[in-house]
Amino acid sequence: MNTQTDVQKQKEYIEKIKKLNQGKNLKYNIFTMGCQLNENDSEKLSGMLEQMGYSKIEDIKQADLALFNTCCVRENAEDKLFGKLGELKKVKEEKGSIIAIGGCMMQEKHITDKIKESYSFVDVIFGTHTLYRFPEDLYKALIENKKQEDIIDIEGKIYEDIPIKRDSKIKASVTIMNGCNNFCTYCIVPYVRGRERSRNPKDIIKEVKELAESGYKEITLLGQNVNSYLRVEREKNIEFEKYKGIDSFAKLLKEITKIEGIERIRFVSPHPKDFTDDVIEAISSSPKICKLIHLPLQSGSSKVLKEMNRKYTKEQYLELVEKMKKQIPNLTLSTDIIVGFPGETEEDFEDTLDVVRKVNFEQVYMFIYSRRVGTPADKMENQIPEEIKHKRFDRLKELVESGIEKNNQKYINTIQKILVEGESKTSKEMLTGRTDSNKVVIFEGDKNLIGKIIEVKIISEHMWYLKGEVSKT
Ligand code: 5AD
Ligand code: SF4
Repeated sequence: MNTQTDVQKQKEYIEKIKKLNQGKNLKYNIFTMGCQLNENDSEKLSGMLEQMGYSKIEDIKQADLALFNTCCVRENAEDKLFGKLGELKKVKEEKGSIIAIGGCMMQEKHITDKIKESYSFVDVIFGTHTLYRFPEDLYKALIENKKQEDIIDIEGKIYEDIPIKRDSKIKASVTIMNGCNNFCTYCIVPYVRGRERSRNPKDIIKEVKELAESGYKEITLLGQNVNSYLRVEREKNIEFEKYKGIDSFAKLLKEITKIEGIERIRFVSPHPKDFTDDVIEAISSSPKICKLIHLPLQSGSSKVLKEMNRKYTKEQYLELVEKMKKQIPNLTLSTDIIVGFPGETEEDFEDTLDVVRKVNFEQVYMFIYSRRVGTPADKMENQIPEEIKHKRFDRLKELVESGIEKNNQKYINTIQKILVEGESKTSKEMLTGRTDSNKVVIFEGDKNLIGKIIEVKIISEHMWYLKGEVSKT
């Protein structure tokens, strides 16, 4: 069967469930952990569920179907899942709800074994390669009243045309590739998401055009390794449907900038080793591509980077940053950093601090190294004691926060272009939006500004957000 027929078959299951659900006014709750790719997957699960006649509800206790989309990049996600499962047990007992768990963590055998053993009330378990098959699994659970486990370890394919219910009407995520071939030694992703595979350029362009036609202003292109889009296909001569000469990430970016209506383009997460000159050129030549670039560093020590299998040195990272700063006016950078990787010495950690000082990041996502079963780093002998990891984390945090405070000062009295996203969560009188550099800005304004890009003068800074006044609409 080809993927189109597979998806068609799932649409038939959606119809079958819709019939079962008719007139019942059923509700679902979805809890998503992890990255933007997972959030995008959850939007697809929501799309399927809404077509089946379920409507979304925030209170899990009221849900007829409670769905979990899991992440396993760090250990705290596991604690969160098993904590939540206690809560779900009650929901199951009191309401007889259907409980389903999917996503990355389900690709780990020790986790599914634990669920089957200790949380036998879970009705459906599915993995990252079988998300598209959720309607069939759910149908079988409903009709046969039998637990469903649908996890495969083979290479997942690309499935187009899965229904989707997006969280926002202004900003949308578009997954352009799946999986990862890099095998950074700390990372579980290549084991749970499989090898890199890219969507056809034609399907991506069609999706972005449809988003533009529905009024979306900003899109974020997603991939575990977004800038190696179509790399495997090119290198291994794997056939893909040719479209407008697109055979690389840079060409895809350029084509997307031509789509009328889309005013902002972002992408996450690129790998520094694949940040080629054509991508830098594409960013600098289009005002639509946001100038905040996420460039994961992970460590500032060349020795640790080697152990991590990152394939660049401290110097190469800094050279890349310099080149980008030169060629991309108004460039800002964000990054990911792991502290306490096995064997990290005080000197190695100082190297990380040194890079943070030199680059002056707009935002730093900081993580304490977390051992992941099955990864090479988990087997390394020189693991760092928890106490040292935490102390280093706190030192890094202090440096990062003082950098952000300083950076924020630079915004005061400047005019920023803001994409207005909606009412502020903390105050209904205020609106919230983001700068090109993805900083949250809160300001007073009329609701009809929502969805527009307007000019706002920044008047004060508050660490994680800025306050402004509308200067021109
Ligand atoms: N421990 C801590 N952080 C990790 N990340 C990935 N794997 C681990 C791990 N085992 C971080 C990396 C990555 C981000 C998404 O999560 O910084 O870029
Ligand atoms: Fe994990 Fe490295 Fe792949 Fe990113 S590039 S998903 S950190 S293995």
